[in-house]
Amino acid sequence: MTLIPAGTIGAKFLGWGTALPPKVVSNDDLTKTLDTSDEWIRERTGIERRHIGGSTASLSIEAGRKAIEMAGVDPLSIDALVLSTTTPDRTVPATSATVQHGLGMRCGAFDVNAACSGFVYALVIAHGLIAMGMKRILIIGTDTLSRITDWSDRNTAILFADGSGAAILDAVSGPGQLLGWDFDADGSLEDLLYADIGKTLHMDGKEVFRRAVRVMVDSAEKSLKASGLTANEIDLIVPHQANIRIIEAACKRLDIPMSKTAVVLHETGNTSSASIPLALFDAVDNHRVKNGDNVLLVGFGAGMTAASAVIKWHNS
Ligand code: COA
Repeated sequence: MTLIPAGTIGAKFLGWGTALPPKVVSNDDLTKTLDTSDEWIRERTGIERRHIGGSTASLSIEAGRKAIEMAGVDPLSIDALVLSTTTPDRTVPATSATVQHGLGMRCGAFDVNAACSGFVYALVIAHGLIAMGMKRILIIGTDTLSRITDWSDRNTAILFADGSGAAILDAVSGPGQLLGWDFDADGSLEDLLYADIGKTLHMDGKEVFRRAVRVMVDSAEKSLKASGLTANEIDLIVPHQANIRIIEAACKRLDIPMSKTAVVLHETGNTSSASIPLALFDAVDNHRVKNGDNVLLVGFGAGMTAASAVIKWHNS
């Protein structure tokens, strides 16, 4: 299925913000309680340190407030809040309710759980709502995976961490920034990575690795096809920040050089829903993205989900 945005009403990024908890846990810190080493973690994952702490609501409010301030908009002018998270603070209500109230908004608010692909899901859902007449949407990707990580399990404890990224999307007439997109999920693979309610994460790391490369490449190719672009027309790829070796393998198969890849995982670890916005806005804030650049976002995660989107970036 090739999905092309309707093109009548599109959207653009008006403001964005990120949040990381102040507590930094280095690989060396982990060696105090786990049979591992800084060298092993760096070589096998690319991760050097990660931020741990906060709640999904508190990090979302911090990132969301920055996005609202940058956009210079009244919180009451926002028509919907879409929060991507796989670690809600409560079973009921959705964490987006807490965040909406915390940001002084009055609008529809709901959570999306598509694991680490969730921010791209939220981005595309927001475009759908805008195509149906909404004018302004706050999307947030936040996870506090440290709360569902078994800190005595070296298989997972070296990977997962906490963070948030948020953006205000505003309606524009014409096609807007989204050129093409793709969603995927394969529930038959759910046992590769899961956490039962109230329990910690279980992961078959090797199999997740193998499948991740395949689904990322497949999804990215579908979005490229939908957008009418080829891989060499992509100026920046923003992959899910899970493992540098997964990113390298996927980029190699897509024939996109690592010099065009946004990477923050050495600083953040795997922050699930937050990982793509953390990497995207780091690249934008560091002037790696120019007006008119084609940016490919591609995520994968538990479920086994995948999602991608091609955006033509415009700051104005
Ligand atoms: N520290 C030190 N040694 C470790 C270790 C750790 N944290 N974890 C595993 N090892 C050891 C293993 O016991 C094994 O030792 P052996 O050769 O003596 O048997 C060796 O290192 C290799 O283990 P292996 O499991 O093959 O490592 P790997 O290269 O597959 O890396 C992951 C493990 C988890 C880092 C990797 O599989 C991965 O990143 N998978 C994807 C996970 C992911 O992205 N999850 C999130 C999806 S959103």
